[in-house]
Amino acid sequence: MAARSRDFVAKPNPRNGRCRLISGNWKMNLNHLEAISLVQKLHYSLRESDYHFAEISVHPPFTALRSIQLLLETDRIPISLGAQNCYFEESGAYTGEISSSMLGKLGVKYVIVGHSERRDLFGESNEIVAKKVNAVLGLEMTPIVCVGESMSQREGAETESVIQAQVDAVVTAMRPELCEQIVFAYEPKWAIGSGVPAEPADAVFGANAIRSAVAKHHGEPVANSVRVQYGGSVNSANAKEFLDQAEIDGLLVGGASLTAEAFTTIIQA
Ligand code: 13P
Repeated sequence: MAARSRDFVAKPNPRNGRCRLISGNWKMNLNHLEAISLVQKLHYSLRESDYHFAEISVHPPFTALRSIQLLLETDRIPISLGAQNCYFEESGAYTGEISSSMLGKLGVKYVIVGHSERRDLFGESNEIVAKKVNAVLGLEMTPIVCVGESMSQREGAETESVIQAQVDAVVTAMRPELCEQIVFAYEPKWAIGSGVPAEPADAVFGANAIRSAVAKHHGEPVANSVRVQYGGSVNSANAKEFLDQAEIDGLLVGGASLTAEAFTTIIQA
């Protein structure tokens, strides 16, 4: 984990006791030099109060993780380091894959697991996602587990059942004390990269569906401990209305996290 000055720790949201987390998922963008420049600009434009409002994580491509780790530690920048994916096996003949223990050694704190692009473009099933979540938790990192329905599922009124199946696969047979550490991201597929965000009420519906699926297995206290982000076409104009919802504990931002200006305005929303 990056060196975090004690003064820069996010304060719990007084409405629910959970700390907000605002994450930038850079996807397959920015080489390591561009990544360094973005994090420097971001830290320069953020105020101390922003770090109190929410924990901030950045999720560069694997090739930039080491550079960003060094930057965060050397300059004592209180931004958390995140990855976008990992494999569930520890090591072995898995050409092209990166294990959770490799990420842990780089000071990674958060790992996005089961992003819809990975589910749809790279065939990740609920079962694979569950194995990855366990691999991340086993290394004492926090998975950001993405769930969400497609437009046709939404039109078929399947949103709740899709979310429940995605959450069930992850939390069934998991110890409650591990489950409560999970961050979920409700990212409706139709809102990702489309410029058409969900309505805040949709985001709350998704967050409630996630928590009721968790509660079914582990009870209300665990469900009320898990944090739920919203993601999908978040920008500086709509960020506040999501953050205003007590059920929403932060944002998972794609395109608008790629410039310091846009990501800063979202955090300061
Ligand atoms: P956009 O913010 O670009 O819609 O991407 C959302 C996302 O997929 C974050 O993980």
